[in-house]
Amino acid sequence: MARDGAIYVCQSCGATHSKWAGQCTACNAWNTLVEEGTARPPGALAPTRTTRARGLAFETLQTETPAPPRVITGVEEFDRVCGGGVVPGSAILLAGDPGVGKSTLLMQVCGSAALRGASCAYISGEEAVEQVRARAHRMGLAAAPVRLAAETAVREILDGLKREHFDLVVIDSIQTLWSDVHDSGPGSVTQVRAAASELVRLAKKRGTAVILVGHVTKDGQIAGPRVVEHMVDAVLSFEGERGYPFRVLRAAKNRFGATDEIGVFEMGDSGLREVKNPSALFLNDGGERSAGAAVFAGIEGSRPVLVEFQALVAPSAYGTPRRAVVGWDSGRLAMVLAVLEARCGLGFGARDVYLNVAGGLRISEPAADLAAAAALASSALDVALPQDCVVFGEVSLSGDVRPVSRMEARMKEALKLGFGRALGPAGAGEGAAMPVAGVSRLAEAVRRIGEDSWG
Ligand code: TYD
Ligand code: MG
Repeated sequence: MARDGAIYVCQSCGATHSKWAGQCTACNAWNTLVEEGTARPPGALAPTRTTRARGLAFETLQTETPAPPRVITGVEEFDRVCGGGVVPGSAILLAGDPGVGKSTLLMQVCGSAALRGASCAYISGEEAVEQVRARAHRMGLAAAPVRLAAETAVREILDGLKREHFDLVVIDSIQTLWSDVHDSGPGSVTQVRAAASELVRLAKKRGTAVILVGHVTKDGQIAGPRVVEHMVDAVLSFEGERGYPFRVLRAAKNRFGATDEIGVFEMGDSGLREVKNPSALFLNDGGERSAGAAVFAGIEGSRPVLVEFQALVAPSAYGTPRRAVVGWDSGRLAMVLAVLEARCGLGFGARDVYLNVAGGLRISEPAADLAAAAALASSALDVALPQDCVVFGEVSLSGDVRPVSRMEARMKEALKLGFGRALGPAGAGEGAAMPVAGVSRLAEAVRRIGEDSWG
């Protein structure tokens, strides 16, 4: 039964309800409604707000005072993803699975920035100061003048940050924070929203860059703090497949830079190592390339990256054939399979299809369509692609192969890594760095693979 004035907040989407229910009517999630505080009677103003308007003071676009310089942390992969360093007064959310290395990355960022002269603080709500310190020592940052604290009470944190000026503050994590303004538990939507908004306000007012850590739930959502995404200036995600040492930092939102830039790191015994030239990292170099493999010449942000697509097409033992994909979009796989069936005469009806991107990278470029299709066709026909061949091109539903961006850069990088030819859209070969088997239809590409004709 609903108590008088009680409000119930969906922990998944943040919608508020006046009654408890098993299912949220806004996002249809089950068992997500939690009672959080009490609603004010309609028309009443929050007690902290004044009722008199102050009047709006307009300003112009022109300004005399130059913007303060960005904080260059010295962790180059991180700086680049942020758009060239961290903007003073900005708020950044770093999201990722528990254990992916968020705390490690941010300690490294803090330590490096502090060694370059920035005033940095690292506030942990998850670990004791000794634990944070021990990790920093292991990472070789013992000498970095980073100020450490273990605290979860928002009031204490705000108070501490008001007494001392910092260029950069890390809060690890937003889910552990607790504000006494609300009576719901730490990690609830209300708490996370309140804590984040207070910290973001402080960031803007004091010119301090605040980085908030947010854990991601099993289904890939930023737990609870989806609401935080709208409050911050940048949302960075830190990703990595279990069992691989590589970690990729991406910007999902960035008010101060591009969102297609990636930073690549390798997790080692003494923290994260920056991978400055990742182009060959995701190639499977263990011997001959066999049927079912195709090397995609991709672009991640501003850099070319070569990745191997591996496909296996096998007779299905069950009535419903399996489709499994790692590192690529399953919807895109379904589309490419449908085009291969409808336009190229390859049948996958009674066959299992597995597609894997080597090295644990996630590819989202449409330019990878042709590489995925080539890997699938190569496996289905049991003919290997030439060893020295890279593939790129977008495939449309009609079976056309479309040109993609920066084809020159893709081929130049492939040439550097020892590749000698490409399978790509018609016209890509003009003035190119290597011979290109240009195809305007996917069926032509499949024919070339089947006949092994590349002349
Ligand atoms: P952590 O930064 O604590 O992850 P998060 O904050 O995202 O939860 O990283 C935890 C993992 O990283 C843990 O499994 C151990 C590994 N790790 C290393 O392999 N080497 C290192 O030097 C450090 C500090 C961590
Ligand atoms: Mg952590």
